[in-house]
Amino acid sequence: MSELRVFPDREALSRAAAETFLGLGADATRDFGVFTVALAGGTTPQRAYEIIAQTWRDVPGGPLDWNRVHLFWGDERHVPPDHPDSNYRTANDALIRHVPIPPRNVHPIPTEFSDARKTADYYEAELRGFFQLGVGELPHFDLILLGMGADGHVASLFPETEALEVEDRLVAANWVEKLEAWRITLTMPVLNFAARLVVMVGGSEKREILRRVIEGPHPPPLLPAERIQPGSGTLLWLADKEAAGWRVKSG
Ligand code: 6PG
Repeated sequence: MSELRVFPDREALSRAAAETFLGLGADATRDFGVFTVALAGGTTPQRAYEIIAQTWRDVPGGPLDWNRVHLFWGDERHVPPDHPDSNYRTANDALIRHVPIPPRNVHPIPTEFSDARKTADYYEAELRGFFQLGVGELPHFDLILLGMGADGHVASLFPETEALEVEDRLVAANWVEKLEAWRITLTMPVLNFAARLVVMVGGSEKREILRRVIEGPHPPPLLPAERIQPGSGTLLWLADKEAAGWRVKSG
């Protein structure tokens, strides 16, 4: 099931994403005793992370219990954790250092390894251990937050890159030629196994690609964002008017 909600601006989009995170967190910690999230990278989610840090005490059912929240990452740039491009650093600066989440509940992708493939192996092992997975099993994240690039990439699954086709791993190292950089990313099977996927899209530069992803047509090869088709989970697109104005009736 897929839904698109359009907001007047980036702030409203960010607030909606934060409210969605906190609402799902309250439900999961109440119903299952744990809330497992894979955070998005890039710039779009930054404001949403800040709002979560400011409003987590105001959840209707009571403050979010951070002892029961486990944060992972959907992808990471292969840079040190204190590098300006680090997705860990973005989330740490905007959210993690401002909330009482136990350090053991924060699971960054360990980019200290010089070899991206080794990093991917390590993170795959961490996921298998945390989710207690058997051979062939996938981690069932309660929520995977994503952004989307103007080329239709999600996480670090870029069009025409090797990791996009990986089906037999949870985490893959991905050489992205156009960036001339290594990335580490969850694979598409893991994304599509999440209970809930929330994709945040803002800005006019994404309008064309978002319209294609939502409304089609979908000429082959499918874009990474077009391949997000959760099995039993839900897919929620949160967009601002700049990115999804075509959906808003004028007048
Ligand atoms: C990353 C992200 C990537 C991001 C999109 C959108 O590491 O860059 O995971 O998938 O979500 O590139 O990025 P912006 O939010 O900066 O537009």
